[in-house]
Amino acid sequence: MDRFLIQGPCRLEGTVRASGAKNAALPALAASLLTDHPLTLERAPEVRDVGSMRQLLSGLGVESQRLEGGALRLVPGEERSGFEAPYEQVKKMRASILVLGPLLARRGQAKVSLPGGCAIGVRPIDQHIDGLQALGAEVMLEHGYVYASASRLRGTTFRFGVPTVTGTENLMMAATLAEGRTTLENCACEPEIEDLATLLGRLGGRISGQGTPTIVIDGVESLGGGDHEIVADRIEGGTYLVGAAMTQGDVTLEGARPEHLEPLIDLLRAVGVEVTTGADWIRVRGPRTLQAQDVETAPHPGFPTDLQAQFMALMTQAEGISTIHETIFENRFQHAAELARMGAEIHVEEHTARVVGPRPLSGADVMATDLRASACLVLAGLVAEGETMVSRIYHLDRGYHAMEQKLQQLGARVERVPGPPTP
Ligand code: EPU
Repeated sequence: MDRFLIQGPCRLEGTVRASGAKNAALPALAASLLTDHPLTLERAPEVRDVGSMRQLLSGLGVESQRLEGGALRLVPGEERSGFEAPYEQVKKMRASILVLGPLLARRGQAKVSLPGGCAIGVRPIDQHIDGLQALGAEVMLEHGYVYASASRLRGTTFRFGVPTVTGTENLMMAATLAEGRTTLENCACEPEIEDLATLLGRLGGRISGQGTPTIVIDGVESLGGGDHEIVADRIEGGTYLVGAAMTQGDVTLEGARPEHLEPLIDLLRAVGVEVTTGADWIRVRGPRTLQAQDVETAPHPGFPTDLQAQFMALMTQAEGISTIHETIFENRFQHAAELARMGAEIHVEEHTARVVGPRPLSGADVMATDLRASACLVLAGLVAEGETMVSRIYHLDRGYHAMEQKLQQLGARVERVPGPPTP
């Protein structure tokens, strides 16, 4: 298992290009199950989760290849074969649940392993199931699997009990091929959902309201093929911006969508960071002194839970006490204890963390349990005095394309080093 060796402290300076969003690419890949025609995804990031989804799709008869220039081409096989997402795949990546809606809508049945809990929380899928039942599917849970079947789904009105990102995406994909109109209420509004709706529209789907809580889908008989460019990854990009803010750096993020990063930009300004934006770039200049600010995670357009860990790293360097309230996932503070090992002062009580700063950090061996927590520890390593070794980098590789190269390009001393073999 690879590790990152970081020599701190350092200052990030220069330009870095945002990759395509992992969380937009995954549903886009799953959407290939809805059509018999090829689909080309520009800017699909080369990250491990995309690799896992390609593997899952290959088992379902959709082959994919990287084209010169980096686009991903998905070609459905002649036969619509298979309808199962086995436990081995789903346990690697919860987002495998995204094949449930498309399989059911296009192949009439699906057998998908229940994802179960994960490092950041329990993460149920009851909303996905309730929604598919509302569309007329028969659903059974047995032996750790969801079994769903329907000859053809029927349009309906369904209201989500909680706004869920992959739940909204699953139902949106399923309803695209349902008979008649589906109205989804209390939907998640994340930019990745809008991106999926744009893709489905390109393939011939009829969707409106994406990006708002109410999405209306008029079902069609079939979808065609097409090309689509995946939206910029706001979380990946946001991570580098926080890095610049923390290291008194000066970083311009290119190929970005500033409007998708507004909650972070507002917060960075509030803590004293200079942020300027253009149509597709964001420049961050980190100040000498950062001011503590409170934050609460919330569904889009609130502050994203996927940037909470990185923001916590930033607050270890700010003057005063910052209260961070995590409202989306119940167990997403595991990075706090590792930050404390580097010298941070953080008090966690249930869903709230109080970060007392500034505290000088010192390099240490640290280990993360999830993707964004790993990113937080890498950021901490950039400001820490001495050597930080972040192990279990495979978490990072799930969602960050070539992070060490991007950081090196910005002047950081980060190296990928082989670790002991996987037990
Ligand atoms: N929830 C339910 N029932 C459901 C579905 C969700 O109670 O049927 C709850 C969850 O337990 C959670 C809340 O609703 O408390 C929101 O969860 P959501 O379903 O929106 O999360 P998700 O779709 O599983 C996506 C991202 C996550 C990101 C969250 C929140 C993808 C592939 N994953 O997960 O990304 O944290 O939305 O924005 O889009 C990451 O990239 O590191 C990551 C974890």
